[in-house]
Amino acid sequence: MIYAASTERSVGLVLLALILVGWVAYIFINIRQAKGEIGAEVELAPNRAPLPSDEEFETTKLERIQAWGVVFLAVIAVTLPVYWLREPGRQAGAIRGFAERSVSRGEREFTEGFQCNACHGPEGVGGSAPAVLELQMGDKTIKVQASYVAPSLNDVFYRFDTGIDKPEDSTEVRNIITFGRAPIMPAWGLAGGGPGNEQQIQDVIDYLWSIQLTPEEMAAKVNDQIAAYESDPANAGKSEGQVLFELNCARCHTPNWNARGSHEQPLGNVVVVEPGQPGAGGYGRPLNSVSLTEQFPDPATQMDFVKKGAVENAPYGTHGVGNYGMPGFGDFLTDEQIMAIVEYERSLEQQPGVTTRAVAEATGSGE
Ligand code: HEC
Ligand code: HEC
Repeated sequence: MIYAASTERSVGLVLLALILVGWVAYIFINIRQAKGEIGAEVELAPNRAPLPSDEEFETTKLERIQAWGVVFLAVIAVTLPVYWLREPGRQAGAIRGFAERSVSRGEREFTEGFQCNACHGPEGVGGSAPAVLELQMGDKTIKVQASYVAPSLNDVFYRFDTGIDKPEDSTEVRNIITFGRAPIMPAWGLAGGGPGNEQQIQDVIDYLWSIQLTPEEMAAKVNDQIAAYESDPANAGKSEGQVLFELNCARCHTPNWNARGSHEQPLGNVVVVEPGQPGAGGYGRPLNSVSLTEQFPDPATQMDFVKKGAVENAPYGTHGVGNYGMPGFGDFLTDEQIMAIVEYERSLEQQPGVTTRAVAEATGSGE
């Protein structure tokens, strides 16, 4: 498939046809004339033909040749700038064609190859994955069949890689896809032990980039989510900060928040998967009054961190070192909303019997 060359190709074909016709005509005429020439070379040989007079040479003939020179010069003078003017368009077309092919390959990976849609829903609207969770009950470990929420991906660039303006520059989403996120989201890149080479991962990223909600759609979605959550009787009386925390942060900062399910045990009792203590940590760090006063003595710096998210290997707070896992929220939550979450988080109690540093180590830096 040759992209964006159709005009050039047709012009080329027309020229080729003209040249072929010209040659055929030339050969035809030549053969006819040659026949008439037999036996008459002496008179008809071009070098024997009488030459024009000096006067004719220096006037009409010379002028005709000069005129043709001017005509050809004019043709070159016009076609070169036209060619030059079209060049950026041609190059842009080539780049766009390249990007479009990558997006459609990425879509195929998303739906058929890697089947991301099985968990993340069609066009990345969000979905769920079946999962077996191991729960600690006293000194026994029991296995529970659960369903695990898989986040929407048609808004993932509102949270991760927020500063970039083209999908090739993605680092955070690329890392998440390449290395996966235990325990449910598998690694997809070769570097993480998955099946996808770098081009396939880039194709998926290009596809995700192409399906992102518009800012208006995103704002509407955030508002609808809040309204729906608040109107649920189960959430009556929750503060704005708590509602926003549960909608945006709990999935990584509260144990088992994303896991839903129940399992009947051999003796008939049913074990239900329930979220752990709010902010006790999961994939993300524990967040509570003690840890946060230590990390961010000034709540304004915490708000700043939550707005931008962590940056890989960049220091934050008093002793934090960022990784690609903590999203930024400043692109779709207002400062007031983020401050409400910050206040809620700073009111949470530390899990009994566990000190901040020990928990931070136990959950690592989120990997
Ligand atoms: C088996 C189910 C499953 C499949 C298949 C799957 N994911 Fe996931 N993915 C998840 C779950 C569950 C999470 C959330 C993990 C968590 O919060 O711990 C997730 C998280 C993510 C995230 C992070 C989003 C965020 O906001 O935190 C990205 C990006 C992602 N997946 C991309 C993909 C892509 C791209 C594919 C296909 C190549 C894919 N996933 C295939 C289950 C899956
Ligand atoms: C996709 C998972 C994820 C989500 C969603 C998430 N976080 Fe995080 N968060 C992390 C990870 C991972 C870290 C650890 C970052 C690091 O070490 O660089 C973290 C760290 C933090 C920290 C620093 C804690 C410390 O003591 O160092 C704060 C504060 C925080 N998150 C607040 C929030 C808030 C507020 C929200 C919701 C608006 C939120 N997070 C949503 C994954 C997440």
